[in-house]
Amino acid sequence: MAPSSPRKMPNPVFHEPIFNESNVLPDPTGFAVPHKSDSKTYDAVEKLLKTQVVGFPASRLDPDGLYPLAEAYGERGADVEEEIRKAGRIVFHVIGDSGAVSGGKVYEHEVAVADQLTADCRGNDAANRPSFLYHLGDVVYNFGEAKYYYDQFYEPFRNYPAPIIAIPGNHDSFVIPGTPEQERPLDVFMRNFCVETPEVSVDAGSLHRTATTAPGVYFALDMPFARVIGLFSNALEDPGVISSEGGRWEAVPDLQLAFLEAQLTKVRDEKYNGAVLLAVHHPPFSYSQLGEAPATHGSSIAMLAQIDEICARVGLYPHAVLSGHAHNYQRYTRVIDMGEGEHQVPFIVCGDGGHHVNQLVWSHKGSRDEPGFGTDVSYLDADPKVNAKGLRLEKYNDRDYGYLRVDVTPDHLAIGYHTVGALGLAQSRTDKVTISLSTRRIIGNG
Ligand SMILES: [Fe+2]
Repeated sequence: MAPSSPRKMPNPVFHEPIFNESNVLPDPTGFAVPHKSDSKTYDAVEKLLKTQVVGFPASRLDPDGLYPLAEAYGERGADVEEEIRKAGRIVFHVIGDSGAVSGGKVYEHEVAVADQLTADCRGNDAANRPSFLYHLGDVVYNFGEAKYYYDQFYEPFRNYPAPIIAIPGNHDSFVIPGTPEQERPLDVFMRNFCVETPEVSVDAGSLHRTATTAPGVYFALDMPFARVIGLFSNALEDPGVISSEGGRWEAVPDLQLAFLEAQLTKVRDEKYNGAVLLAVHHPPFSYSQLGEAPATHGSSIAMLAQIDEICARVGLYPHAVLSGHAHNYQRYTRVIDMGEGEHQVPFIVCGDGGHHVNQLVWSHKGSRDEPGFGTDVSYLDADPKVNAKGLRLEKYNDRDYGYLRVDVTPDHLAIGYHTVGALGLAQSRTDKVTISLSTRRIIGNG
């Protein structure tokens, strides 16, 4: 049942952290807390959606600190990591934009995605079982309200048997005027995803999943064979903002610039040989036709420039960049030369975790043709701050709901895209890119 009033479970009650219910519970058939239409609110905040950014606290860790996956697992963490090492690979899920805005048809999509993710964790082959879910943000729509965490997060994922680790999206951070201080969405997000000890959140209702222990809204998740550097790209509808941009966004601290630089420097100086992924809610690249506005959320150019500048300074680029926000799947290959020959870097948008799927082009808004797979879209990368040598839209899917399945070994990083629905789990993968960790070139495409 949904929370009627805030409560605090006495802790420890169980062997925290807890990830799922001990009994498999049936799908929810609707929202426990009725969700009223936000259309009037949207009318009132239209301008703020383009101007209101939010501050956030420094991570509990130093800029070069690492949040180990083992910590998310609590006392079982060391054993879990040992199993992963023995298997010689780690598999994990990635989704974005899972929240649903109503308890009807839209909610069924979110529940279907969550169910398929959960089913994928119950395979017979232990080495092929995902170890956690990384959420790229927009967990709760429309404005990250505490009262909707139960319906939009805890209940759909009630049976998911592993940690869910998240960076916030714009819908998890935008503040509606008049919101009480203690109910500011980013604070609510943090009490569910960035706590010091894994207690049951007041927002979890009668469910037992404990809040995740990430050290802040930006952090580097460290695991066997891979590291995910997560950034918070703030509360605007567009674009993504990761810093003050030299004073343009005064409320936004520059903490993440130092953090990103420290993390990449650490990778470089320690000669870390695992996969390095960058995760940020707003996509650096999102499709639009040449000279036209995007049909859905567009590219975040200034944010990418800042990321590029730091990478150029350190002399190192992540193996892949993952984003959500645009409610579809888009996979780009960006060719970059960091001084050691050309690297191929996948930039993947996966924002179809349950919220409305958006088409890439809207014919009724004047856009014309859908792009073919492999289209040269270098015009989206017109002023790169690294030595970029081309951008291709390799594949996309703007009809289905889906998620990523990331598979890392000591040699390669594979990112598969899975759709949810009629095909079932076994046939659900409809795209995949595989990168050699050493050459940083694609060794498997499609
Ligand atoms: Fe978003």
